[in-house]
Formats: sequence, C-alpha cells, structure tokens
Amino acid sequence: MSPDEHRAQRREAPEPEEGDRGIPKIVMVWIVVLLFWGVGYYLWQIGKPMLGGDSRSVPVQVVASTEGGAAAIDGGVIYNANCSACHQATGLGIPGAFPPLAGSEWVIGDPAIAVSIVHDGLQGAINVAGGSYMGVMPKFGGNLSNAEIAAVLTHIRSEWGNQAGAVETSLVDEHVTRFAERGPWSEAELISTFGKP
Ligand code: HEC
Repeated sequence: MSPDEHRAQRREAPEPEEGDRGIPKIVMVWIVVLLFWGVGYYLWQIGKPMLGGDSRSVPVQVVASTEGGAAAIDGGVIYNANCSACHQATGLGIPGAFPPLAGSEWVIGDPAIAVSIVHDGLQGAINVAGGSYMGVMPKFGGNLSNAEIAAVLTHIRSEWGNQAGAVETSLVDEHVTRFAERGPWSEAELISTFGKP
C-alpha cells in the first residue's frame, strides 16, 4: 500500500460538529424577546375593545334622521350593520363567544339596562339566558345617535320571539344626562344600578 493510497482520505476535512456552540446566543435572545413581546402584547390587549387590529372604528353606515325620532329609523338596518357580526342575524349569538339577544333577560328587561349596555359597552363575566359569557362588547354611544340606539333596541326587543316594548329616544337622552361618558358596564354594576333583570 503506497502512502498515496490514502491521500484522498487525508485531504478530507473532519466532519463538522456543533460542539457547545449550537445556536448562537443572539438567536436565543431574540427568540426569548419575541416570545415576551408576543405574549405581552396579547395580555396587554385583553379587555380592550376589539377594533379588528387595524384601528378602524365602526363605520356609521346609516345616516341618521333625527326627524321623527327613533320611529323613523329602521332598527333592522342598524342591527345588520352594527350588531349582527357578533350577535348573528338570528340573534342567537355564538355559543361561548357572543351571547344571544333572543330570549335574553338583559334585552327584554328594564330598557334602561339595554340602553346602558349599547351606549357604554359591557365587559367581564355575564350570565345570559342560562349561559355564561366573558367578553367585551364595544360601546356605540358616539358612533350611533341616541335615536339610532333607541331604534336598534326597539328592533332587538321585538325580534326572534322577543316581545318587549319600544324604546324611546328620550330614554337614551336621559341615560346620557345621568351617566355622561362612563366606561363600559359590568354585570355587577348593572345589577347594583338597575336591579336584576
Ligand atoms: C364586537 C362584537 C359585538 C358587537 C359588534 C356587538 N356586541 Fe353586544 N355583546 C358582545 C359581547 C362579547 C357581549 C358580552 C359581554 C360580556 O361578556 O361582558 C355582548 C353583550 C350584549 C348585550 C347583553 C347580553 C345579551 O346578550 O343580552 C346586549 C343587549 C348587546 N350585546 C346588544 C348589542 C347590540 C344592540 C349591538 C349593536 C348595536 C351589539 N350588541 C354589538 C359583542 C358584541
């Protein structure tokens, strides 16, 4: 065997090995930083109104006519444009996520309660028609006029088998005078202010 026979083998570089320099430290640091950022951002967003991530506000798709008050506004149109994405066209909501309006004690009870929820928003745990929910409902005061809020409430109180009376614009006016710009309600605050529906 001549020494040249193993020249090819001798030329080979040794198999590369990672040793203890597997993943560069800077990459590990980045992974940890991104993980904290992602989880932190998620936690930071809890309880904030859902704006679809792009900061658009709910468009006012219905031009309000205050002449003739709530009766002149089609509450069904306002419902489809502003509420049905979450509470669904059927008024049944989505189990576990969005509570039903059909058969809801909060909708057909004291109308001042429903006015409060829609004008100011609602968050935290709430029991609706025997189910429990934990979400955030955006406020509509400012996006919808008082007459539009009255019209959409009149609509949901008389749809899907609900049989409760119409809501007058004056009730929404009274709400604004009494509570001004308060934050979102919770179930406990609604009960302590208006009583259990
Ligand atoms: C972004 C989704 C979303 C939209 C849009 C929305 N809601 Fe809600 N709504 C919720 C959530 C979530 C709750 C429950 C909040 C909680 O868990 O505290 C709720 C609760 C309610 C309640 C009290 C509980 C019940 O089911 O009776 C009423 C009344 C209500 N919404 C009416 C409306 C009306 C009227 C509109 C349209 C003007 C509307 N919502 C638009 C998500 C939404």
